[in-house]
Amino acid sequence: MAKYLVLFGPPGVGKGTQAERVKDELQIAHIATGDLFRDNLKRETELGQLAKSYMDRGALVPDEVTIGMVRARLEEADTQNGVLFDGFPRTVAQAEALDQLLSERGGRIEKVLFIHAPDSVLLDRLGNRWTCKKCGAVYNLNSKPPQVTGVCDVCGGELYQRPDDNLETQRKRIEVYAAQTAPLIEYFDRQGRLARIDGQQPIEKVTADVRAAIG
Ligand code: AP5
Ligand code: MG
Ligand code: ZN
Repeated sequence: MAKYLVLFGPPGVGKGTQAERVKDELQIAHIATGDLFRDNLKRETELGQLAKSYMDRGALVPDEVTIGMVRARLEEADTQNGVLFDGFPRTVAQAEALDQLLSERGGRIEKVLFIHAPDSVLLDRLGNRWTCKKCGAVYNLNSKPPQVTGVCDVCGGELYQRPDDNLETQRKRIEVYAAQTAPLIEYFDRQGRLARIDGQQPIEKVTADVRAAIG
């Protein structure tokens, strides 16, 4: 049976980092809505332009746009065995839409892996994050520095700081998370699907807890 999992948590807690570490062993597709928006922006699509106007301010892209994009992505063949969602759902409307989309496929979310850490940790991580322009690999000046400054270990591409990783937008994203996304914690908990994971631990320890929670 197809396996559907959600990596959930505030900006900078390590969702993308953990997804990269477990998606291959799970043999399921990785759908990160932030990455999909950034990819659209790179390709200069209309969706990319629209998303940019929200992302630059740290606001959420409207639900119908985000849900439509995920619906289309789920039609691709690599999602047959299941999906590891990352940064989606982020509102109650998105969660309800996802339940509906998966039930149409005869599936459901098995576990929501809620990684948490205090705001001070999130700000520190976001402020020190560098991302590869070419392959998207994620580094951190403190916890995961590249071997050569400014250069990707994996592909040799140039590293950059995401435009939404300036202090003002970081703070805004954390606020938006608290107001619009955090209410989902209770929503998933009530359904008995929530696993809480301490995101303040080193990357490897978090991965071990993610693996244990998936079972
Ligand atoms: P998105 O790209 O999803 O950004 P985000 O939620 O703000 O989360 P991040 O990607 O910043 O953090 P992460 O948890 O993946 O952390 P990472 O692994 O990189 O969304 C961007 C924007 O797109 C949104 O603001 C919104 O506008 C729009 N959007 C996206 N999805 C949407 C949706 N569903 N609905 C509406 N709008 C949407 O790690 C961070 C840093 O910490 C890295 O440097 C990493 O190396 C380091 N690190 C990770 N783990 C550890 C650890 N355990 N110890 C030490 N360092 C660590
Ligand atoms: Mg991410
Ligand atoms: Zn790279």
